[in-house]
Amino acid sequence: MEHKDVIARDPKQSWFYTETVKDHFFHPRNFMEEESAYGEAYLGMVGSPACGDVMKIWIKVDPSTKRITDLKWQTFGCASAIASTSMMSVIVTENGGMTLEQARQLKPQTIMERLGGLPLRKVHCSVLGDKALRAAINDYYRKHDQPERIEVEHGRIIDKELKITDHDIEEAVLEGAHTLEAVQQKTKVGTGNPSCLPEVEQLIRFYKDKHFSQYLGKDEG
Ligand code: FES
Repeated sequence: MEHKDVIARDPKQSWFYTETVKDHFFHPRNFMEEESAYGEAYLGMVGSPACGDVMKIWIKVDPSTKRITDLKWQTFGCASAIASTSMMSVIVTENGGMTLEQARQLKPQTIMERLGGLPLRKVHCSVLGDKALRAAINDYYRKHDQPERIEVEHGRIIDKELKITDHDIEEAVLEGAHTLEAVQQKTKVGTGNPSCLPEVEQLIRFYKDKHFSQYLGKDEG
């Protein structure tokens, strides 16, 4: 055997980890060792509904340039979450640091590209870090009296009866539900209120494209 990665026959189901992913997993950059010694920072924290894992991000911001001068993180997430967040910490702080607004636009795809890709089933892990980063950015604006800059991501209600949001649909897609039936199995969306189903189908297409376009062939897109 050449290496110990598990590779399925179907490349879309592969569990192959790139050398860059392994490097960032075994040598994580900017990991938070000792919070009490870190000084004043802004904190964002999220949990993954897919696996229950928690991600915390701390940022330091230069108030005159609004650049993120330092970023530290901790997670109970898996190897993919560790590698993705380590890479994200590098991207956000390299070249003098991204501004808060640049960092808010950071896409999971950018992190994935720098990692050389992740196994399809691990895409949801890569989203945890940048969600927590956006929460830390909100924390900065909240503490600097700029509530108009806070962007809350609780979502928009799509199914009024069951109070299911676009965020819930996104999470279901990230967890691997890529058809209406699969999303309904996870969320029950539209079961009492079928009038929302066309919008749900649109959202499934949108989120599949957003998170999985590099994996899905035209036949599945
Ligand atoms: S972070 Fe939970 S499975 Fe990857």
